Formats: sequence, C-alpha cells, structure tokens
Amino acid sequence: MVSDINGHAGDLPFRLREALSDVLDSGRDAVARLKYAHTTVRFTVIGEDAGVTLLLDRAPPEVAVNGDAAEVEIEFTPEQAARFVDGVLHIPAALEAGVLVARGPLRRYLEVDPILRGALRKRAGSVERASAGSGPQVAARDAQLPADLLAIETRDLHKSFGRNAILRGVDLQVPEGVISIVIGPSGTGKSVLLNHTIGLMQADRGDVLVRGRSLAKMSRSEILALRLEVGVMFQDGALFSAMNVYDNTAFPLRQHTDLPEEAVREIVMRHLSSVGLADAVHRRPGELSGGMRKRAGLARALVLDPGIILCDEPDSGLDPVRTALLGELLMEQHAEMGGTMLVITHNIALAKRVAEHVSVLWQGKIMESGSAEKIFSSENPFVRQFLESQTEGPLGMDA
Ligand SMILES: Nc1ncnc2c1ncn2[C@@H]1O[C@H](COP(=O)(O)OP(=O)(O)OP(=O)(O)O)[C@@H](O)[C@H]1O
Ligand SMILES: [Mg+2]
Repeated sequence: MVSDINGHAGDLPFRLREALSDVLDSGRDAVARLKYAHTTVRFTVIGEDAGVTLLLDRAPPEVAVNGDAAEVEIEFTPEQAARFVDGVLHIPAALEAGVLVARGPLRRYLEVDPILRGALRKRAGSVERASAGSGPQVAARDAQLPADLLAIETRDLHKSFGRNAILRGVDLQVPEGVISIVIGPSGTGKSVLLNHTIGLMQADRGDVLVRGRSLAKMSRSEILALRLEVGVMFQDGALFSAMNVYDNTAFPLRQHTDLPEEAVREIVMRHLSSVGLADAVHRRPGELSGGMRKRAGLARALVLDPGIILCDEPDSGLDPVRTALLGELLMEQHAEMGGTMLVITHNIALAKRVAEHVSVLWQGKIMESGSAEKIFSSENPFVRQFLESQTEGPLGMDA
C-alpha cells in the first residue's frame, strides 16, 4: 500500500498519518506537552478522501484515521500538506495570510503548533527555519487578524505620565503560537506597553485582551491568576539580590503552588539546565554576568509553564555573540514549550533572528505590523531608517 512516490498527491494522507504517529511515538518530553491543547484537530488534504485526526485531548495524544469530526479542522492544499509533514509549514503565518483554511477553536491548536512543527522538522531532518519555509505566498494581509488567532491584543491604549503622553492609541496584535517582536526606539514606551499587558499598569483609556479576555473587566484576583499564564522576563532581570539562582527560580513555584520540595527541585533544575545554569544554582545575582542574569530571568519566567512568555529587552547588555546565543535559546524554548512569545527589543539583529511577526512602536502607536518578511521589506521611511540604522530620516535624537 505504501508507495514512495515523492509528493504524489495520493500519498499524502498516508504520509501525514505516518509523520504524526512517528512524532507521538518519539517519546520526546516536548511531545508530551501537545496534550495542553485539550482539543482534537483534523487535517484533510483538499481533493483527498482520507484525513487524519490528532487527538490532543488524550494523554498521551493519539492519531486516528479519519473518523468523526474534530473541534479544529484544517484543510491543506497538497503542497501545504507536504510542507507540514516536513515541519516547514508555518500554520499561524499561513492562516494570517489567508492561504490556509481552518475552522474551530484555533487558538488552542496554535498554542501547541510550535511543538508539533519542531518535532516534525526534527523527524524530517530539516534545518530550514519555520518562517523561512512559509514561502513567498505567505505575505500577511493588512487586515486586522481575527480574534481567535491572537494571544494578546490592545485596543486604542492610551497612557500619559503627567503631560507626557506615552501611549497614544496603541493597537497591538500578538498572534498565538509564534515569536513576535515589538521593536522601537529607546524611550518610546515598549516597557510601559508590556506593563499594561500584564495589568501592572492601568491604561487611561483603551483595553487589553489576553486570549480574548478583557483586563478592564477582570477583578484583582483574576488579574493575579492571569499572571500565572503569562511569564515575564523583565528588562532588568528583577531577580531578588539576596536569593541565590535556585531560590530565585523556585520563587514562583513556592508562591503559587503547593508542590512538594522534590517536585519544585525537579522543575527548577530542568529549567536551569535548559538555560545552561545548572552549575550556578548557589550564586547570587551579584555574582553572575549580565548574560547569566538574563538566562536566570528566563528560567524563572518559564517555571510555571506559562502559555505566554514576555521578554523585555532580553539582549540588553549582551555582546553580539551572546545575543545570538540568547536568540537561539529563545527559539529552542519556544519549540519545546509551545505557546506565544513576545520579545521587546531595539536590537534589529535579534529581531531578524527570532521574529516571525513584528510590530513597530513609534510616537505612541503601532506604526506598522505584520510578518517579519513584510516588515523587513517595508517602504515606510521611519521603519526603513530604524531597521537600517541610518542617521538620515524622520527619526532623530529628540523624536
Ligand atoms: N512610572 C513612570 N512614571 C513616569 N514616567 C514613566 C514611568 N514609566 C515610564 N515612564 C516614561 O515613559 C517613557 C517610555 O518608557 P519605557 O520604559 O516604556 O521606554 P522603552 O521603550 O521601554 O525604552 P528602552 O528601549 O530604553 O527600554 C519614558 O519617557 C519614561 O520616562
Ligand atoms: Mg524598556
């Protein structure tokens, strides 16, 4: 039954099933996280009778052939299906561009899409970057993204400090399941914007929606609960100077869970190892280099398994090599943990390395946003000047 005709359309449902079964059987830790989607996803190939259903509501997840309707339905063209099998179809980008048809509670699937994509890519032995593999047809449309594709959204957000108007109607859209970047010059309000998305600052006007829920309508305890879903790596690391790396990283677990100390230890050490700090557990922040402090901040942001991770200037104070390494680390963590990652930076090199979606903040507004491909080839004079670090242009020392 199995044929090895490469790319033969009749083969695709079989290859899909085989690829998904292989991934589930691989026993990788990351794959076990697919169940966090708590949904069922049916993949069909247009023009084919057979489909494949991924049962992500079971632990461990399973693959079923065809069968009943699933909550989320994704329809591939034969070309998209072939790319999916190789882990190079960027489903969020393809949805955003309107070249992929899907129905159902998509956000839930998109949370685990990076994990599945990473695992399929590994299986296929492909080294192609996901965004690079999304192809020229995936140029984001300018229309607003549907709410079901968004992890975070701000609507007409305004914030002033005295007479200093910082946010002047920010409409930010952070798509679910990808690494997004907010880029903009120093002092434009990037950190202020981040503080609004986790309820640390209150807007003068406008609203923030996290996974569709309005912060303005939340009680104080709901906002506190939300912070368990959103891990933050603050600009200055925000580590407690009197605590060592281990206790700093364990802090959110001790604060928010009743886990016994052995379980805390397992989680803390897993995350510290993944950021290369297993040997530095006894050191205090003052005894770490800037890069180590950043990595400790990332480990701490991840211990509660947040679906959304915000990183404010993860690269500040790092040399170009360490910035590049940190970029790799962020991408690795994203492929392992899934979810959505929002990175705030004014480092163009970092943005180019990790970004799948980019929003440019300037003069209190999102001046442009869309796929990395679209923004890095923007014709907007400010965006061009900023991305190419030119001194000539609308951006000056006082702008
Ligand atoms: N709590 C505050 N009270 C008064 N002004 C503030 C406060 N927080 C921020 N600001 C002002 O808001 C502006 C934006 O600050 P913000 O820290 O958000 O900039 P940024 O874009 O993150 O810059 P950088 O790239 O340097 O980190 C600055 O002018 C800052 O002085
Ligand atoms: Mg800042």
